[in-house]
Amino acid sequence: MKQVTVTVPATSANLGPGFDCLGVAWQLYNRFCWRREPSGLSVTVRGEGAASIPADPDNLAVQAAERLFAHVGQRPSGLSLIQDNQIPAGSGLGSSATAVLGGLLGANGLLDNPLSQAELLALAAGLEGHADNVAPALHGGLTLVVGDEPAPRYLVECLPVADLTAVIILPEFELPTATARAVLPLQVPLGDAVFTLGRLGLLLPALATGDYARLAVAMADKLHQPYRLPLIPGMPAAFTAVRQAGAAAVALSGAGPGLLAFAPENHEMIGKAGQAAFAAVGLTSRVYQLAIDRQGSQVQWL
Ligand code: HSE
Repeated sequence: MKQVTVTVPATSANLGPGFDCLGVAWQLYNRFCWRREPSGLSVTVRGEGAASIPADPDNLAVQAAERLFAHVGQRPSGLSLIQDNQIPAGSGLGSSATAVLGGLLGANGLLDNPLSQAELLALAAGLEGHADNVAPALHGGLTLVVGDEPAPRYLVECLPVADLTAVIILPEFELPTATARAVLPLQVPLGDAVFTLGRLGLLLPALATGDYARLAVAMADKLHQPYRLPLIPGMPAAFTAVRQAGAAAVALSGAGPGLLAFAPENHEMIGKAGQAAFAAVGLTSRVYQLAIDRQGSQVQWL
């Protein structure tokens, strides 16, 4: 294959109690256009994050492609990548998962698909460190992913989800995922585990049916959000503000710093309320209203 274009959706991992296993895909995309070339490597990055994303061998999509080439022991003599980003980088919307999948699916396509979806997911999860963004980015919709022996093997369940609209508020604040993971305890009290486990059970049917009353209870957790909220200036106040503006349920998008709120209506007011809370601590922010992507990653060949 000479040219392959991969379109990968944004995702929100965790959704409150689904830490490291639950995620949902959104209709906001990064696109990766790969071409075989006679020699060398050329990388162009456009759109969101273009100024900071490397346009050289350090580019994450290129590294993921190289990982697949090494895995199968074949590599085109030369390669070009044009990466068009709509997804803000470092926001908790899974932009790095899109790069990993953009690279793996592109490389797999250029080599006429030596790897299965399950093998691609295992490679992607290895590169990302966790699978809860890559699973929905690959399959679309709502997914639950569970690591299984013999590692690296993942069981993915594509779950029903209603046509929900999310308000996502992204403060201009840098919170590397490594920092947001470093504050988490290695052990949690049994009561906190039970609190979270019950809510994950409640969350799945609430998401399937769009039951806002249940979502309001179900999107809380005690495994990660209590430790992470204080890292983001204005975030506890933003949680309160969006609830007061009519959000039924609110959670961090992934590890943050994005905030995700579900509501039946008043999406614009909810966005403005969250922005005001961040503005009060001197942070500008952007608001997105996103619908669920149900297709997952799309690969086109020329
Ligand atoms: N589940 C991961 C975390 C997602 O919360 O650290 C990171 O996007």
